[in-house]
Amino acid sequence: MLKNRNLINADDFNVEEINEILNLAEEIIKSPSDFSNLCNGKILGTLFFEPSTRTRLSFESAIHRLGGDCIGFSESASSSTSKGESLADTIRTVSNYTDIIAMRNPKEGSAVLASSYAEVPLINAGDGGHQHPTQTLTDLLTIWMTKKRLNNMTIGLCGDLKFGRTVHSLIKAMSRYENNKFVLISPEELQVPDYIKIFLKSKNIEFKEVEKMEDVIGELDILYMTRVQRERFFNEADYVRLKDSYILDNDKMKLASDDLAVLHPLPRVNEIATEVDSDPRAVYFKQVRYGVIVRMALILKLLGVR
Ligand code: CP
Repeated sequence: MLKNRNLINADDFNVEEINEILNLAEEIIKSPSDFSNLCNGKILGTLFFEPSTRTRLSFESAIHRLGGDCIGFSESASSSTSKGESLADTIRTVSNYTDIIAMRNPKEGSAVLASSYAEVPLINAGDGGHQHPTQTLTDLLTIWMTKKRLNNMTIGLCGDLKFGRTVHSLIKAMSRYENNKFVLISPEELQVPDYIKIFLKSKNIEFKEVEKMEDVIGELDILYMTRVQRERFFNEADYVRLKDSYILDNDKMKLASDDLAVLHPLPRVNEIATEVDSDPRAVYFKQVRYGVIVRMALILKLLGVR
């Protein structure tokens, strides 16, 4: 039962619950007009203490497409946080104005703290370098719609695997489906944190770490590209040295299989050349569309409307 639940971590929902959301998302894709009034009278709060284009606007688009309304802010400076109000008091307050809240906050662990004060379902829309579970739902829907399966795949993740919260969540999510293996492509300084490697080893899931994309791109069913996360570096010189470690271009795509799917949570900086956008294997703009659909499905489930 998903009604009235929070979504803080990618593994808060079991596989059956995730599949329920993906199935509902597929229903929405087939017949969007059947869903256009289901949230009449419902209000979503979007509390964004950190910048966002896709996550905030896709939540807002989702509630509008369901017939509901939306209130919120897009930066701390325009909220009473700038006057020193605590997160707990902000959440207690907004619980009186809304039926469901989506929150992004740069502090790791802020979402779980906020959920302990919320009187309505709370969705973590990104908490620092920790988790971004609705991006994971978006990624799962994209893989499902592109490949028609979530198992038996070799998944390459490339770029900033250290700070990329979407990477950590996706590895955990795809580990729950049978026979997936991972190829982790990054410079040494940006490898996935040890806790992810310990997790994979504890589940006997096959993975390898490599530095050169060209050596492995031909083995992959999915290539998940990520940007180097400038805002999480302590040192600008390190960012400048590492920012262009990987640039996927048409020459590298020639080494890949015909049914590779290239995903990227976006925003993109330099890591995918724009010439790749017209390659049918590039699905990152379809992924943006699936991000709205899957958030519609999630809102419906958490509000208990479906
Ligand atoms: N993918 C993603 O989280 O994008 P935004 O930072 O624009 O929300």
